[in-house]
Amino acid sequence: MSSSDLGNFISRVTDQYSRDPLQLINVLREVQDRYSHVPSEAMPPVAAALGVSLGRVQGVVEYYSFFHTSPRGQYEILLSDSITDHMLGKQPLMDYLCERLGVSVGKTRADGRVSVGNASCTGMCDQGPAGLVNGYTVTRLNKERVDEMVELIDAGKPLSEWPAAYFQVEDNIRREDALLGTALEDGAALRAVLDRGEEAVLGEIVRSGLRGLGGAGFKTGIKWSLCRETHSTERYVVCNADEGEPGTFKDRVLLNRDADRVFEGMTLCARVIGAQRGYLYLRSEYRYMLEALETVLQRRRAAELLGENILGVPGFSFDIEIHLGAGAYMCGEESALIESLEGKRGVARVRPPFPVTHGFVNKPTVVNNVETYVCAALIAERGGDWFAAMGTEQSKGTKLLSVSGDCARPGIYEYPFGVTMRQVLVDCGADNALAVQVAGAAGHCFPESEFDRRIAYEDVATGGSFMVFNRDRDMLDMARNFAHFFAYESCGFCTPCRVGTSLMKNLMDKVYAGHGTEADLEEMRNLGSVMQETSQCGLGSTAPNAILDTLDKFSDVYQRRLKSTAFEPAFDLDGALEEARQLTGREDSAAHL
Ligand SMILES: Cc1cc2nc3c(=O)[nH]c(=O)nc-3n(C[C@H](O)[C@H](O)[C@H](O)COP(=O)(O)O)c2cc1C
Ligand code: SF4
Repeated sequence: MSSSDLGNFISRVTDQYSRDPLQLINVLREVQDRYSHVPSEAMPPVAAALGVSLGRVQGVVEYYSFFHTSPRGQYEILLSDSITDHMLGKQPLMDYLCERLGVSVGKTRADGRVSVGNASCTGMCDQGPAGLVNGYTVTRLNKERVDEMVELIDAGKPLSEWPAAYFQVEDNIRREDALLGTALEDGAALRAVLDRGEEAVLGEIVRSGLRGLGGAGFKTGIKWSLCRETHSTERYVVCNADEGEPGTFKDRVLLNRDADRVFEGMTLCARVIGAQRGYLYLRSEYRYMLEALETVLQRRRAAELLGENILGVPGFSFDIEIHLGAGAYMCGEESALIESLEGKRGVARVRPPFPVTHGFVNKPTVVNNVETYVCAALIAERGGDWFAAMGTEQSKGTKLLSVSGDCARPGIYEYPFGVTMRQVLVDCGADNALAVQVAGAAGHCFPESEFDRRIAYEDVATGGSFMVFNRDRDMLDMARNFAHFFAYESCGFCTPCRVGTSLMKNLMDKVYAGHGTEADLEEMRNLGSVMQETSQCGLGSTAPNAILDTLDKFSDVYQRRLKSTAFEPAFDLDGALEEARQLTGREDSAAHL
């Protein structure tokens, strides 16, 4: 890489992005795609061209998992570290892959051909073990596939010549209900809002009782009303397709199967709140979908469903841009997502103010989940009462569950809210379940005695993740996997989470290794409650959930580890003082601990 090559490349790329500082992440992605990392020499010219500080560029590169400051191999293989991938045999497969390639985890082979590493959950829990090769999803990995991949890598074959089967992603829809089973003609929701008016359609959304389906369950009608009422000439619509919660993959399926309805819902929202621009924030792990999604956007533009004067209505103008993330679970949190959209580190903002009044570029912004926009589009066409007739008192409509783990039929299950966990377990063929972890790593763990509880905001709330663990599993594996996940993903902004997740990880490792004591368990309980109460955002406050739940509901798995080494402390203090005892000539009992 000569410095003039680099300089020319950067000036071409930054020109392509109109030297817009908001495009910093896109610019860095292009640099990384070209050089397999972001060279330190690239940062000053990028900063200068975009008019941002060098510190900001460095900060962004360091923050996101998928940016690297040192060269990676020509092939970069990352295996998903989700607990469900582990349950499908990820670790032996990783060992085998490293052995066959002659490289260790986190390293690049001396010839520069290949590097291997881990990635947080890649959203393929229903078809793992999964991973990414140069950012593109590979599924259903096994030893045979690894053998073939090693040959392809040694032969230097470009990914375009690899068998398509490696990259195949199935939808695995197992149960349809009102959302998946109701067709919506392109433009139907937009025609509904044009015919009936924005206020009337907003009224239908309110009447429907729709609550955000990304997990937090905030009422969508209220969110849209607040944004619409905030005085501004500029508003934004953002679709949260970050889907980083381990075990969740329903947005992947909606985007693959129903992108039109997602974009229709966003455009509907734009009409209701008065926005002209929208963003789909797509997690980088779903990069394989980018081209197809761009094609849908183009088709909608050609059909007058996006762009200037939508459906021929003067002044109804709205367009959508897809923004790829760069590997940060935190960017699913709406304020961090907005920071990332603005080309910054994805760190949570101090709230209030909330995005509905101060969002993207400080303007009123609606951020909704993928599934929420699809529901909104259906409600605009079918009416609020149609939707409100399904579900429970406080949770109207249906919910898509991403079911994975120990079951015969992993995949997507849609149910009216109120379904019991037991029913889901029967339907997915989990006949030996010990526990279900609902709502991902941030969620809660339920033993068999609670399987009759219901999926609903008034009982068990979830963004959609439903992981099944059978009786042969050690629930400590799950809790420990999540502890590592949160320590890795904490954005580091506030102390309770930055330090808490790290201490929690160390304590879990200590207990797991058989060196823990009752005092460590007590320490975990105390630390967990401090994190829940004092963390700045939802990541830190939910990070200890799985540990606290398993300590409470599966205490035997902790006790078992303690019992086997009850009298073996992690550090042999008495042994370490031996030399001092000899020097001082003490052998009395008080000199021993
Ligand atoms: C750490 C963290 C990660 C999150 N990840 C997601 C996500 O991947 N997708 C999502 O829709 N919401 C996610 N959320 C919730 C969002 O902050 C926000 O509530 C949601 O996008 C609003 O959309 P909704 O009302 O349609 O659910 C996350 C929240 C936190 C605290
Ligand atoms: S709780 Fe964690 S993720 Fe959230 S702001 Fe604090 S350090 Fe960052």
